[in-house]
Amino acid sequence: MKFEDLRGILQYVPQFRERIFIIALDGAVMRLPNFGSLLQDIAVLQSLSIQVALVFGARLQIQELALTRGIKLSNDDGMGLTDQATLEVSADAISRLTSELVADLTALELRVAVPNALAVHPAGVIDGIDLEHTGRIERVDDRSLLAMLKEGLIPVLPPLGYDGRGVTLRLNSDAVALELAWALDASKIIYVSEEGLLDENQHRIAQLSVADAREMAKRKDASMDPSMASKLRHAALAAGDGVPRVHIVDGTQEEVLLAELFSNEGVGTMIHADDYQQIRKAKITDIPVLLSMMRQSVEDAALAPRTKEQIQKRIQDFFVLELDGNPVGTVAVHVYEMPDKAVVAELACLFVRRSHKNQGHGRRLVAFAEETAKQRGASTVFLLSTQASRFFEEKMGYVEVSPEALPTERREAYEKSGRNSRVLNKRV
Ligand SMILES: CC(C)(COP(=O)(O)OP(=O)(O)OC[C@H]1O[C@@H](n2cnc3c(N)ncnc32)[C@H](O)[C@@H]1OP(=O)(O)O)[C@@H](O)C(=O)NCCC(=O)NCCS
Repeated sequence: MKFEDLRGILQYVPQFRERIFIIALDGAVMRLPNFGSLLQDIAVLQSLSIQVALVFGARLQIQELALTRGIKLSNDDGMGLTDQATLEVSADAISRLTSELVADLTALELRVAVPNALAVHPAGVIDGIDLEHTGRIERVDDRSLLAMLKEGLIPVLPPLGYDGRGVTLRLNSDAVALELAWALDASKIIYVSEEGLLDENQHRIAQLSVADAREMAKRKDASMDPSMASKLRHAALAAGDGVPRVHIVDGTQEEVLLAELFSNEGVGTMIHADDYQQIRKAKITDIPVLLSMMRQSVEDAALAPRTKEQIQKRIQDFFVLELDGNPVGTVAVHVYEMPDKAVVAELACLFVRRSHKNQGHGRRLVAFAEETAKQRGASTVFLLSTQASRFFEEKMGYVEVSPEALPTERREAYEKSGRNSRVLNKRV
């Protein structure tokens, strides 16, 4: 690992400290060869003062146990009808899994508790079918869970609950994670799944809005596994109502938890409420990050070099696109008065981090800059570009003009720079 990686990681630590993360494990994930290292990563989170509650599913283990006992399951994910035989197999498989998990966590010197913290009722009759031993979570005992978390204990919540009459009911683990997150005001749910969420070209889907996650969960074709659909549905419910981020990560990947949480790009899918990104005014404290972000493009001659002092002097002209609290792009708007008193604006310093390209951020920053230019009294926006002129022409409707059209002081600087940029403009 490089020192700069460490710096990148440490920037998240203050923002995560004392926060509650709900980690929901698929039963299949607990069978993977790398499961031990996943638990170690949970220990790392705890050591950073992140409070972790663990939820797990048991579909695979329930299926296996049913097979050895020759029992036909009425459902294996706690969402449909749970008949008596299915409940018995599920309860046995879940108890075994609970003690395995507690043993594994204890071996890592983590302190755990298996609390009876869910008040559950039978789900009742849905669409004309009595779901029998399937439960619905009514209430979460948040006070006792918060006390445990404060004490440094990891609550482990199996997908089972008990109603006031002492009846055992089967729950869906995605729903347990959701109810916990709501009750504990958690910052994140991280669903560790047996696979990641991919698009039709088998590329990872890095981010999804609540609306997109909801739509995707409704997909009925073979490309959408019911277990993934359930995660997407619960993720959309969570992110749509107060849980700032929900992540779905592929548990088969090494170090997936840490890589998802402590890198800008992540390795899984993040479902976010729609306002997770913002373009804001740059601050003096942003300058080092801006300079380091832009370094590569300056080296490639796509951006003109700028010094710290140059940015500082015109800091009110600079804007930062922030994702999840981290700067990933920038743009500047400089205003000039022409001899005929017309006001024009220069769009400059447009940059999007390599890891976030092709997600519409460039266009968003240009549109924002144009709006800012208008607000600052300009009717025309111009820019100088060496490598992105086609982007501006094809995506944003700019046209090439002669350098003669530049404001005098800008034209002098242009000639002096020798960069031979193309000059483009657009009426706004
Ligand atoms: C130019 C830049 C800001 C675009 O950012 P972005 O967030 O990737 O842009 P968007 O996601 O909004 O748009 C991507 C689209 O523009 C196209 N595009 C991006 N850069 C391009 C370029 N230099 N020339 C032509 N097309 C380009 C992409 O192919 C993509 O097209 P598609 O939607 O048809 O697939 C980014 O590539 C960058 O930071 N480049 C280095 C710095 C630079 O050149 N800045 C301009 C200084 S004037």
